[in-house]
Amino acid sequence: MRPTLGPGCRAPIRGARWGTGGGGTSWRGREQPFTFPSRRRVIVEGGSRFWEGHVSLRHRSSGVLCAVVLVLGIAAAGPGPWSARPAAAAQTVKAVSLQVGATPARATVTWFARSTSGQRVEYGVATPAGRLPAAPVRRKAAARPASERGWSSVHAAMTGLRPGTTYAYRVGSHRSGWSSVSRFTTPAGEYGTFLAFGDPQLTRSGRTVNGAAGWARTLDTALRRHPRPRFVFSLGDQVNDPAASAEWDAFFAPPALRGQRLATLIGNHDQARRAPQYGQHVVAPNLVSTGRAPGTGNAYFVEGKTLVIALDSNEKRLAVHRDYLRKVIAANPRVTWRIVGFHHSPFSGSSHADDADVRAFRAGLTPEFGRQGIDLVLGGHDHSYVRTHLMNGPRISRRGSANPTVHRPRRGETLYLTLNSSSGSKMYPLVSGTPWAAKRDQGRRPTYTAVTTSATRLTASTYHDRGRRVDEVTLTR
Ligand SMILES: [Fe+2]
Repeated sequence: MRPTLGPGCRAPIRGARWGTGGGGTSWRGREQPFTFPSRRRVIVEGGSRFWEGHVSLRHRSSGVLCAVVLVLGIAAAGPGPWSARPAAAAQTVKAVSLQVGATPARATVTWFARSTSGQRVEYGVATPAGRLPAAPVRRKAAARPASERGWSSVHAAMTGLRPGTTYAYRVGSHRSGWSSVSRFTTPAGEYGTFLAFGDPQLTRSGRTVNGAAGWARTLDTALRRHPRPRFVFSLGDQVNDPAASAEWDAFFAPPALRGQRLATLIGNHDQARRAPQYGQHVVAPNLVSTGRAPGTGNAYFVEGKTLVIALDSNEKRLAVHRDYLRKVIAANPRVTWRIVGFHHSPFSGSSHADDADVRAFRAGLTPEFGRQGIDLVLGGHDHSYVRTHLMNGPRISRRGSANPTVHRPRRGETLYLTLNSSSGSKMYPLVSGTPWAAKRDQGRRPTYTAVTTSATRLTASTYHDRGRRVDEVTLTR
């Protein structure tokens, strides 16, 4: 018997493949009843997110047991004319984000919830079927009102995580409902690969969010090529308007992101005193507030033998950064690689390269990067790709070439990478007068960079969203 597919037919989603073009990310969320509003087009909502596309159905025996394949057309936000209302529980949790802790043994989950009471995370070593164990660890969450009306900002820590282990988790409460169960695998060993992304800067325009599909596609491409990164690093300007909840929802929407530990920088577009959503979505490890907005400031974490320092470049007082760098470097002497994330790249290739604040960072902060033995600085803000020569403070110390390059840095020498937009929402033309650049690219494609470390080599490989390699550079010990 074929299921009835007309308006009003209800069926559970047993699994969905979503993605754009030929790619796809498997999503095996729990069943969420929804109503088919039309024969061919549906929108499946989760909180204020939704995915619009086409469905095909393979029934088993009746109209209430269907396997659904959902092929995405666009990713967007806001209610649509074909909205399929999900179960009430599915609307009580949104923007679930798995984030790095101070070490790989810890992770933080953040989310927005309708209710503050009883919120918690449940987690444990995933069963062979990828489910939560029968007796998961239950951690009470901290909740406070969010600036988005009707929602609370919630976060909880997962601790005692073992290396190389796949965990399952969900967030919410028995009273108000749960997120779907997600899985992630903790890194093993002291080295590996992480994935860096510049300026998604998702931008709401009417009922759509520009860049949302590109962001999801670039993530998808990166994770297909590098399926087990240690973590994912977004280098600032996650959104365009920090008060636009739909932009934050779209940033956290790709289900693949809930299977990776995320680290972020705050960018200039993420901050606003009256829209402090960045600090409501992000819990940065080892945070020292710069006093600009709750939950923002300088942070760091240690990934095996790599120290990652995430500076808040909206803070223009150079002494604040110098002081933080000195303390963090002194407290973590036994690492092989020191990497800084800094949204306002001091050495970029487009119009921001000549901004007053960028010039001040170039002149006044880069010497400290050299003194503190920083190997690599990752930045964004200028929406084009630049790899520098080896720099000593603001000066070119040793030249690289536009071809794949191997450097053996001496004391005081630092390499800088500026990443292009990872979503394609905005691309800036290259400008003249950037003598620090060994390699520049404005391919008008979203890009990402894979950084792979070993005890003797650090290689940063940059790719367009469709997989073509743009550049590669290696630092050796
Ligand atoms: Fe920016």
